[in-house]
Amino acid sequence: MPSLDLDSYPLSRLADEVGTPFYLYDGAELGRRLGDLTTLTAGGALQARYAMKANSSGKVLARVREAGLWIDAVSGNEVLRARRAGFAMGARPPVVLLTADVLRDNALTVILEHGVLPNIGSPGMIDELHGAGYAGPIAVRVNPGFGHGHVQSCDTGGPSSKHGVWHESLDRLHARATAAKLPITELHAHIGTGPQIREFDENLRHLVALLATRLPEFREVEAVNLGGGVPHAYRPGAERYDLAGFRRLLLEAAATLAQAAGRPIRVEIEPGRYAVAAAGLLVCRVKDIKETEANAKGSGHRFIMVDAGFNDLVRPAMYGAYHHISVVGRGSARPPEPFVVAGPLCESGDVFTRDDKELLDPRELPRPDPGDLLVLHDAGAYGAAMSSNYVSLGRAPQIFWEDGHATLIARRETIDDVMRAECDERL
Ligand SMILES: Cc1ncc(COP(=O)(O)O)c(C=O)c1O
Repeated sequence: MPSLDLDSYPLSRLADEVGTPFYLYDGAELGRRLGDLTTLTAGGALQARYAMKANSSGKVLARVREAGLWIDAVSGNEVLRARRAGFAMGARPPVVLLTADVLRDNALTVILEHGVLPNIGSPGMIDELHGAGYAGPIAVRVNPGFGHGHVQSCDTGGPSSKHGVWHESLDRLHARATAAKLPITELHAHIGTGPQIREFDENLRHLVALLATRLPEFREVEAVNLGGGVPHAYRPGAERYDLAGFRRLLLEAAATLAQAAGRPIRVEIEPGRYAVAAAGLLVCRVKDIKETEANAKGSGHRFIMVDAGFNDLVRPAMYGAYHHISVVGRGSARPPEPFVVAGPLCESGDVFTRDDKELLDPRELPRPDPGDLLVLHDAGAYGAAMSSNYVSLGRAPQIFWEDGHATLIARRETIDDVMRAECDERL
């Protein structure tokens, strides 16, 4: 079952106060998850980073820092957000890693100004860094030739993945980095969760074995980063990932890699979703219930129309991700029936109950009354962080709940927020 007990929050009062939809994060659950990651990586050989792309709210980052995790950032601005949250800059130690598929906007400037460790995702970045005057260490993201995310469309490794440097061209890359006097101090790969929990462990073992064969050539490497993707059980009854077993795997990895290198190697991981997914809810309001009838084109459906859309939470529309759904209000005690839950956008994909083949996947839910609240669970990761102001709706407010108190940590965006960057400047 989802981790958060909806009876512990005054959802109705909060909805009246900030309007719907809104995000709510539970500080205690966030603390538990971060505690899990600290325990998982306790001891000098292991280090957890937080993949801040999952949720880059300042409040979350502050908790991450207090828990002793380091950061995986993926843009110059994420580095600056981490800096504002108090994370140390510089590459010794590399508290903030900047993993880039492409260096854009201020990424190069931020690397030069703040000395954070660049994790390069393609060979040409060596010349870009060198050309810009960078003379520090680098990390290299390796495409190990295998791996994929929780759905097939999240392709994190293999010939069709855009991420990283193909493992068989590492020699050439190494020579290029040496010529540019950029020592490679970290090898990195993020191969994703995989659709089956077992696959995650198998892929990681395979990855460790592959990187161990390469380590002897990389004499300046201090750390191997095995990426994120620590599984989170989104579906009720889904198998929970065994963190104790994962710790054993990581310690074994540290031993294998140290033996291969002939020196201690720090083993890093960089989960995002595990830290924050369970701690977040997206709360929206049921606006109406309507039906379609079967005809030659297909069967009819019952639709629950809510005021949140893929502008607020894009995961279901983007890759058919599952979020558990609860009804809060008068309808909540009714017997379940199959419903499609859909949002306000003029887009047929604006549906929260879809599968990864983009087909409707009606959910057994009690029939709500218009005005009831509908809650999408496990929305703390890639929820607000991936939200947009498509159709100028403005992004939803975010509330942090802790010790019985609610704090507004991001207000609803207004028309002025939405239009803030618009200008009329002659160039
Ligand atoms: C390079 C990298 N590291 C870490 C993560 C975090 O993955 P997760 O949130 O599944 O743990 C991602 C996610 O896309 C990633 O691309």
